[in-house]
Amino acid sequence: MIIAHSLHELRLALEGSQKRVFVPTMGNLHEGHLKLIDKAKALCNQNTELTVASIFVNRLQFSPHEDFEEYPRTLESDCSVLRARGCDVVFAPNEDIIYPQAQTFKVSPPPELANLWEGHFRPGFFTGVCTVVSKLFHMVSPNIAIFGKKDYQQWMVLKQMVQQMAMPIEILGCDTERSSDGLALSSRNGYLSAEQRVEALQLQMQLKGVAMFIKTQAQGFKAQCQRACETLNALGWKVDYLTVCQQSDLQEVDRWEQQDLVILAAATLGSTRLIDNIEVTRAERAPSKQ
Ligand code: PAF
Repeated sequence: MIIAHSLHELRLALEGSQKRVFVPTMGNLHEGHLKLIDKAKALCNQNTELTVASIFVNRLQFSPHEDFEEYPRTLESDCSVLRARGCDVVFAPNEDIIYPQAQTFKVSPPPELANLWEGHFRPGFFTGVCTVVSKLFHMVSPNIAIFGKKDYQQWMVLKQMVQQMAMPIEILGCDTERSSDGLALSSRNGYLSAEQRVEALQLQMQLKGVAMFIKTQAQGFKAQCQRACETLNALGWKVDYLTVCQQSDLQEVDRWEQQDLVILAAATLGSTRLIDNIEVTRAERAPSKQ
């Protein structure tokens, strides 16, 4: 496995490759990231087809009060797990490679998507993500890029970015990896105390409750989400949003109109903000409600 820190090293590592499957990350890798690497590797069948990961904590997507400084930086252990998983190239640039000067040109996604949900609570987040991901795409020139669906809205925003900007890159999503008790894997789970780690399961449990409801009911989704929020808030969480949306544009819905749906949530436990989601497709609805 080649570890490239500079653009020159990256170019040398990618030279002669016919296909590149790319997994951008901010490091502090867990099994969820490694599943993305497995998926990338499964798409590379020849020596000239490379699995490429990047590790870069992107200042631009953090608000001033967020955890940019504290975000865990574990390059050495990240590289050893990537090597063990068979990754071919790791691009691990310093900030002066990605941002050699103030980044005044930015990629801004449309407000109707980027100001919803995560974007509402983290202003500028998706502009930060789109800007760094487009720069990484220019540097790596991948044919395929893979993102985790835990960050559901990010995955949607990036799919639309690639489409509208005519980038010749296929964006794939990978299902959320969970620990055996159901908690969605996240680098931020490491911030939780032992007690909070147990309490954290409530988020997924409330989402599952809403999923059960919408599979069997035709309407009243908003009220059901409200009840789930109240339960979490009563348990000491601070819920930012818990909502049923249509998958196509993430607009909130109160009833089924034959669409595929996704339940999205973000909530803070202690000082740790967690996000999670559950997709519910038309096919999963109780037959009498089809
Ligand atoms: O999902 C992440 O880890 C980041 O938002 C990404 C896509 C690597 C951009 O910094």
